[in-house]
Amino acid sequence: MIEIRGLAKSYGAHQALKDVTLSIRPGEFVVVLGPSGAGKSTLLRCINRLAQPTAGEIVVEGTPFRSSARDLRLLRRNVAMIFQQHNLVKRLSVLKNVLVGRMADLSPVLSCLQLFPEADVKIARHCLEQVAMSHKADSRADALSGGEQQRVGIARALAQQPKFMLADEPVASLDPKTSRIVLSYLKQSCKESNIAVLCNLHQIDYALEFGERIVGLSAGEVVYDGAPAGVSGDVIRRIYPGLDDPNVLDAAQRLTERRRAAAEAVIAAAAAEGRA
Ligand SMILES: Nc1ncnc2c1ncn2[C@@H]1O[C@H](COP(=O)(O)OP(=O)(O)O)[C@@H](O)[C@H]1O
Ligand SMILES: [Mg+2]
Repeated sequence: MIEIRGLAKSYGAHQALKDVTLSIRPGEFVVVLGPSGAGKSTLLRCINRLAQPTAGEIVVEGTPFRSSARDLRLLRRNVAMIFQQHNLVKRLSVLKNVLVGRMADLSPVLSCLQLFPEADVKIARHCLEQVAMSHKADSRADALSGGEQQRVGIARALAQQPKFMLADEPVASLDPKTSRIVLSYLKQSCKESNIAVLCNLHQIDYALEFGERIVGLSAGEVVYDGAPAGVSGDVIRRIYPGLDDPNVLDAAQRLTERRRAAAEAVIAAAAAEGRA
């Protein structure tokens, strides 16, 4: 269980986060939904201490986080991060990229020499299986498509065997079809490993499709925290105060396209049955 209590973050006079309180249960898949500038990245960065909160505390399994070297080490061990740009090492093989996720546990000498214990290689191979990338284990990272690279990014984070996964707009640079594949692997593999996920998204339709719980963030404040089914038009207007926001329009368009595709499939199946 991770509890975020009264978290605030200011940059000069600008309050990027205001009094955010949330608790995340083990294995839960939570989507943080909000427009650009809402404070989504700041929230994740405060949790893993890439940014220093101005106020509030984070309690991990009952123990408040202190900024000691020991707490920071535990944090780095237990919290994995997935970025929009997956930051793979281009020249290295896919397997070696995933093994990077094991390096925290490895002596510096061995990791420098890229000598990985057999147990770590086994973990890395299993993580590649979880995102269906085993067949590319020996390929160079830069030979993969964007969606495949992000799946390897997920495998690398899984290899760390974290308790929490923070994903900051993991599909922002991918097309809609690939985005849904990547989000499916992220959700499924974290469920298998009972890892809690906080996933930032700005796309309403993906949030509703994949989130078990939606946290709506607007101008640094939580304006909704609940089931996807409770996200009404009113909630959307609270999260996106400008309804002409391109994210709202994009989502509406993608939903319409998917419904149309589903309808066409049903009609085609009915026509085929009629012919049979
Ligand atoms: N390092 C920084 N210095 C100053 N302002 C920042 C910094 N990081 C973020 N901000 C500001 O904080 C607000 C929230 O940013 P961010 O967390 O990146 O939002 P989101 O990820 O939802 O797009 C924005 O107004 C942004 O300009
Ligand atoms: Mg962001």
